[in-house]
Amino acid sequence: MICFVMRFWILGFAMRPNCQTASRGLALLHPGFVLALAIVFAPRFCSNSSAASFPEASSLPARAELPDPLVMSDGRRVSSPEQWSKERRPELKALFEQYMYGAIPPKPTRTESRVIGDYRDFLGGKATLKLLRLETGPTNAPRIDLMLIVPNGRSGPPPTFLAMNFCGNQALCNDPRIPLSKGWMGNSCNGCSNNAATEASRGSQAANWPLAEIVRRGYALATFHSGDVDSDRANVSDGIYAWLAEEKKRGNSPANRGTIAAWAWGFMRCVDYLATDRDVDAHRIAALGHSRNGKTALLAAAFDERIAMAFPHQAGCGGSAPSRGKVGESVRAINDRFEHWFNAEFKKFNDAPERLPFDQNCLVALCAPRPVLFSAAEGDQWSNPAGQFEVLRAADPVYRFLGAEGLSAKEMSPVGKLVDSRLGYYIREGKHSMTAEDWKVFMDFADRQGQKE
Ligand code: GCU
Repeated sequence: MICFVMRFWILGFAMRPNCQTASRGLALLHPGFVLALAIVFAPRFCSNSSAASFPEASSLPARAELPDPLVMSDGRRVSSPEQWSKERRPELKALFEQYMYGAIPPKPTRTESRVIGDYRDFLGGKATLKLLRLETGPTNAPRIDLMLIVPNGRSGPPPTFLAMNFCGNQALCNDPRIPLSKGWMGNSCNGCSNNAATEASRGSQAANWPLAEIVRRGYALATFHSGDVDSDRANVSDGIYAWLAEEKKRGNSPANRGTIAAWAWGFMRCVDYLATDRDVDAHRIAALGHSRNGKTALLAAAFDERIAMAFPHQAGCGGSAPSRGKVGESVRAINDRFEHWFNAEFKKFNDAPERLPFDQNCLVALCAPRPVLFSAAEGDQWSNPAGQFEVLRAADPVYRFLGAEGLSAKEMSPVGKLVDSRLGYYIREGKHSMTAEDWKVFMDFADRQGQKE
């Protein structure tokens, strides 16, 4: 109905009574105004053509600097926290979905959770191991195996790290009760053969996931394998996008897809479950991931305010590093090698990232005032550690605008020193990896920024 009314309203400019063609007429007007109009009205009400309702990438103005998150697309400066949450947040979310990640798939009407196992004797009786299967719909809808490890003998529900893993839950711990992941996985996963987990994969990543230490420090860990949500392959979906394609007849089109958005949807489905589990504090769930999984954790936290903290570890381009960055991976490089991670629109910025109407500081700003830690490594210049610090600096004004502490450091901190302000930063020696030492830093930051029992 609103779309219908809009069509006639727009007619005055465009003389063409449908959303798609009307937007072309509108493009004759000021680009900022068109962008603002498109964001407010089109995605929600014009189901047939949200992509066509936004200005073409090539017509967006080029800006060398990271865009100010507090300036709306029509040039107005955000003047109140209410305007930030009611106008600018939705606007930024629409822009990220339109020009970069693709649409986050819709929330399923119903998710069933089945308990596969519940063992109080885990880690020598120090923790309970809960094995859940989240069924997000009938037939081929994704089944997410969520592994939850909760400390025993605590006085209340603990804060929880929700992390997406690369190689299946069974890779984190050599316990035969954990089901082998059924999801597709990269052959670089130890103990994996023909892109599938084998018994040999059990515990293959245990050194990087210090479960006993996490539990000792009073945290729970919830984790799932990205391959349960969608496989990490260009143009092959065996998860959410295959399901949406089947659902197409019901209007659930998988158009505007990007695998990172799909995985972020997976985080959200796990939060749906965790929010109902009394063994977890629903208000203290942190999203965490390494590298591509870190890009996903940040996107999930930016879009889902139930996530209380974000830990995008060495997330780099498409995550914590600026798209406008000149160090390490570029927009073109990431799109060429991993074309499925982002939507088709993002490719249009391969040679002109400065035309993006946002940068990753705006994604961090969407998390405000919640704590976010960027952790990096000196030997991982591909992820642009210095650029990541600049991203935090350029998100800081939004935190301060909302009355929260932002980034306390003015300059990049020395190696090994944690900046533990609301926007946190850490750089260590070494290479691209997630280690048990990194977990200590994650927990130090969570101790400082969360209100642990
Ligand atoms: C590649 C890619 C990075 C990504 C990383 C990973 O290096 O270029 O963007 O973060 O893989 O996910 O391991």
